[in-house]
Amino acid sequence: MSVVLITGGFGSLGTAIAKRGEQAGATVVRTGRHPEADGLAQDVCDEAGWQQVIDTVLQRHGRLDVLVNAAGGLGNTPQDVLSATPQNWHELLDSHVVGAWLGCREVIGRAWPHPVSIVNLSSTAGHLATPGMVAYGAMKAAVEHLTTSVALYCARAGLPIRCNAVAPALVDGGIRDDVLSTVSADRDDALSRYLARVPIGRLVTPEEVADTVWHLATGGGPSLTGQVVTVAGGLGLS
Ligand SMILES: NC(=O)c1ccc[n+]([C@@H]2O[C@H](COP(=O)([O-])OP(=O)(O)OC[C@H]3O[C@@H](n4cnc5c(N)ncnc54)[C@H](OP(=O)(O)O)[C@@H]3O)[C@@H](O)[C@H]2O)c1
Repeated sequence: MSVVLITGGFGSLGTAIAKRGEQAGATVVRTGRHPEADGLAQDVCDEAGWQQVIDTVLQRHGRLDVLVNAAGGLGNTPQDVLSATPQNWHELLDSHVVGAWLGCREVIGRAWPHPVSIVNLSSTAGHLATPGMVAYGAMKAAVEHLTTSVALYCARAGLPIRCNAVAPALVDGGIRDDVLSTVSADRDDALSRYLARVPIGRLVTPEEVADTVWHLATGGGPSLTGQVVTVAGGLGLS
């Protein structure tokens, strides 16, 4: 049976990914800074904490097959090009990029008798300009670079570790309202302006993101590595 570790596991997407894994029969371990009863406490920026979390998973379940790096929110707003603060950049850098890198490093540094798959959460904000949330977009671009670099490192080293990313557009739930508030103080207006750019005419669902994460994590075989899969209803295609 697969054992899956999800950071940010009690957030909107973390919860959907956990449900998807459980439906597939996996054992799911969720972490967060404010974990619920069945979870582990973890701040992904805490270097020593990563070793403890993976040790705990291995002690309790005997293996780790999948790491999903889903921790991180939008941070303090406003964060448009002029108003973003260094504090905002540092906060997002730590939770989205350093946190995901620490997780990758902890996995890469151990010997695995079976394949391990890492899936990082990026965003369309990582490859479409986002002047209203400039730090967030830059961090997601960094997450995509981290993903391809880790994938290449592991492939060249002959390690049984794949690394991919999923880049959702705005998802129904989670950080949606925070994102919309960077577009306009009137959220209904912001939503209709945003949806006008999405060819399928609706927000992405957490379940669609979870399905894609699950496919990247468990399907495709050893060759499926270093990829960023966009789940965005056609946003950005034209
Ligand atoms: N929702 C969207 O529209 C969307 C779209 C594209 C990409 N994404 C990405 O998908 C991922 C999940 O988003 P979401 O919508 O599920 O957001 P969410 O509901 O806010 O969940 C994110 C979780 O991360 C946790 N977290 C934040 N900083 C952390 C840290 N330093 N250490 C450990 N946990 C931390 C938060 O919990 P605490 O604050 O309680 O610790 C929260 O539970 C994020 O990387 C996000 O950027 C989301």
